[in-house]
Amino acid sequence: MITSDNREGARYGDDDDEPHCPSILGPAQNQKPIPKFTHTTRPITQSLKSILIRSSHQPNHSLLSQESARSLVQQFNPNIPIQEAITPPSSWYTAPNFLSLEFDQVFFTGWQAVGCTEQVQEANSYFTGRLGNIEYVVCRDETGELRAFHNVCRHHASLLAFGSGKGSCFTCPYHGWTYGLNGALLKATRITGIKNFNVKEFGLVPLRVAIWGPFILLNLEQEAFSQQGCEDDVGMEWLGSSSEILSTNGVDTSLSYLCKREYTIECNWKVFCDNYLDGGYHVPFAHKDLASGLKLDSYSTTVYEKVSIQRCDGGEVLGRHFQTVSCSGAAEDRYGPWMDTNLVLPLGPRRCKVIFDYFLDASLKDDEAFVTKSLEDSKKVQMEDIELCEWVQRGLESPAYDSGRYAPMVEKAMHHFHCLLHQNLMK
Ligand code: FES
Repeated sequence: MITSDNREGARYGDDDDEPHCPSILGPAQNQKPIPKFTHTTRPITQSLKSILIRSSHQPNHSLLSQESARSLVQQFNPNIPIQEAITPPSSWYTAPNFLSLEFDQVFFTGWQAVGCTEQVQEANSYFTGRLGNIEYVVCRDETGELRAFHNVCRHHASLLAFGSGKGSCFTCPYHGWTYGLNGALLKATRITGIKNFNVKEFGLVPLRVAIWGPFILLNLEQEAFSQQGCEDDVGMEWLGSSSEILSTNGVDTSLSYLCKREYTIECNWKVFCDNYLDGGYHVPFAHKDLASGLKLDSYSTTVYEKVSIQRCDGGEVLGRHFQTVSCSGAAEDRYGPWMDTNLVLPLGPRRCKVIFDYFLDASLKDDEAFVTKSLEDSKKVQMEDIELCEWVQRGLESPAYDSGRYAPMVEKAMHHFHCLLHQNLMK
């Protein structure tokens, strides 16, 4: 019987007819026995350092393409004050090589939010995702330890896990190689006769993973594992000097998780961010119902090292409105008893996925009418925003438009976002 745990003595390569572990994916094939041996998880993780360093997960674009993307970056000047500044050119939102540079310099550098802690609350739970050409799986192994791996089978590169769920191992849908949730290769089917094969070198390739507030963060840097950074510093590394302010004033981890909503939008990921960061400029025109619950004259924006915070007083219904966003498109809204987190993940130059996770004061969680009405109101705002963002994307692709201007009193957070991007893309 193949075990899916990480204890000493987990067997490898059994090809008998005994049932496999209750796998996350489909059943493996019946195979003939091959020799068994034992291993532990830690040596596998350690031995993978060398593999990780050898491997390249950066997109394969040419130096020429990088250079031409950098010349697009330079078309925005962050040193010009907002009153005189011109917005980035439309090519920032349309050019494939610009997105490649963003993956290299923004999404594959430092910590990136990829999910929410509720997705891996229990042992043996997992979720998968894709960022650029990185396929990842985040899971809790049976001991409760949070882990993340490249979601790629070490045999012939099939994706291994899909969607989200629970299970005690990952079984590849292609030829049935099976991995524990600690990444260890537990079973390689029909490899009788193979030579120079070290099972410890064929576990899943690990990624550095951490938690900050409700967010699951990954570090996709090539040598992240060898750096062995201190996970206590994650907040400071990700959010800079504002991490403490957000911890005490905005990100309330005492709220109860309610639900998730995902939207695929036909626009560049920055179009969605820009819309979020315009200081409520568009609210009275595009979200009339929402506007009636806010005192828009009170809107204020504070910019910090790596994030911006927008505040707005509300009426009886909303109470306080509170937003923040990091350079790579993670945001959080706090309003009355609600909090929602937004992740903006690029799917291509003109497509992105936005993931909302909703949290609510526990005392209101069972108030069905209130919850339903609130979620409907939120969805209405999202649909209004999606329409706006898709209109903007089409306008950006028009030959009639290249750059625009900022409204200096309200679009400070957007200007800060563009300056941060410029800074990261020029590194
Ligand atoms: S590709 Fe996964 S078992 Fe062959």
